[in-house]
Amino acid sequence: MSRLVVISNRVADPRKTAAGGLAVALAEVLSNTGGLWFGWSGKIVPEGANEALHTQQAGPVKLATVDLTQADHDAYYLGYSNGVLWPVFHYRLDLADFDAGYIAGYRRVNQQFARKLLPLLRPDDILWVHDYHLIPLAAELRALGCKQRIGFFLHIPLPPPLMLAAIPGHDWLVRALFAYDLVGFQSKADLGHFAGYVETEAHAQPVEPGRWRAFGRTVQAGAFPIGIDVDEFQALTRAPEGAEMYQRMKNEYSRRKLLVGVDRLDYSKGLPHRMRAFRELLAKNPETRNSATLIQIASPSREDVSAYNDILHELESLCGSINGNFGELDWMPVRYMHRTVARARLPGLYRASRVALVTPLRDGMNLVAKEFIAAQDEADPGVLVLSRFAGAAEQMREAMLVNPYDTEGTAAGIMMALQMPLEERRNRHQALLQTLRRYDVHWWCDGFLQALDSAQAEEAGTS
Ligand code: G6P
Repeated sequence: MSRLVVISNRVADPRKTAAGGLAVALAEVLSNTGGLWFGWSGKIVPEGANEALHTQQAGPVKLATVDLTQADHDAYYLGYSNGVLWPVFHYRLDLADFDAGYIAGYRRVNQQFARKLLPLLRPDDILWVHDYHLIPLAAELRALGCKQRIGFFLHIPLPPPLMLAAIPGHDWLVRALFAYDLVGFQSKADLGHFAGYVETEAHAQPVEPGRWRAFGRTVQAGAFPIGIDVDEFQALTRAPEGAEMYQRMKNEYSRRKLLVGVDRLDYSKGLPHRMRAFRELLAKNPETRNSATLIQIASPSREDVSAYNDILHELESLCGSINGNFGELDWMPVRYMHRTVARARLPGLYRASRVALVTPLRDGMNLVAKEFIAAQDEADPGVLVLSRFAGAAEQMREAMLVNPYDTEGTAAGIMMALQMPLEERRNRHQALLQTLRRYDVHWWCDGFLQALDSAQAEEAGTS
């Protein structure tokens, strides 16, 4: 059987509970299949000291990581990945910093990854590269003679063709995708944008549905919405830490309905828009005052990128003014925390909440939406208020879908969620849970790897 090699910027020990959506999903996949996980060590070292390869066996998974110099980290991670690709791919051209120096650092780190990874590979390995930090990795590996099957999965959205075309060097970036055998996206909308771009900008020939020929290679592309491990998350809900958190929240909020939001502090998550909708809810519906509390956890993220600081100040000022205007001696409408909460405690918090607010302005998928549904009690479930601009909205049609730019509409959606009768809550939850179970993380992984297998076979047949 072929060995699976996963490559991503962040690498986590699958035996320990990891923090982010991507790392959790990959840890889940690798602890089932075993294999090699390659990426950045998370360490920054002086110039000249970045040649070491760190390896460690973590159960069935071998971890192999490299360090970055400060200059490479700044240009590759802060600069090109999070100052150019992240904002543009989330439709925020206004926040992009097209500094010409970033792309060289991005390329350098992808070359460093390719050089360090190549000697670790076996002839029949299957390589699966993840996310926007590593788009050119396959092209760099191929340049060094790598012949193995390589798939790429983009965890974040792909913007419409003309927005992608605003990136200086966009053609280089998309050409690099053609070095993969299979490219996967989160949603049908993202796949449509890819098709639009390659056909109009790169004049690619559609070979058959989902396959395009350009730059002398054929690439297959598809939508593979990522899921969660429902059983694992439900077990976490019942585990001691989850159960204790649930009890504490239930006791604390026995007289009030709890709303919850859990996000990285990122401008794509629509946190100020969410706060304005919550303020509108309190203003228009006096009965919600003193009877509804919003817990908003915003975990610190990418603080060295300036756009992230602006959002912090805006959010703090909005939370302060809502509490100042509507708070009572014995009730504060918003409990805002700029802190990371241990993953083991989140299921208890979700289970105790009547409503979850997942209202990003743009999101690749959003796994909080899925985890909230998995954590609910089937007999008395809470309601998911979900942005129609999250990738998850393509699958989760029974959520209360809202447009986060529409403050009044979102406030009305939250009100409906708070007042929703038990039977409707149960019906919606049951349908959502069924979809979650059917399209879980194993379905995602198996589906992608099977498609990668057949993509390679067809390429071999046509060449
Ligand atoms: C998103 C990205 C991931 C990234 C995560 C955390 O989910 O798709 O690739 O790892 O955010 O961000 P960070 O910059 O801390 O890795």
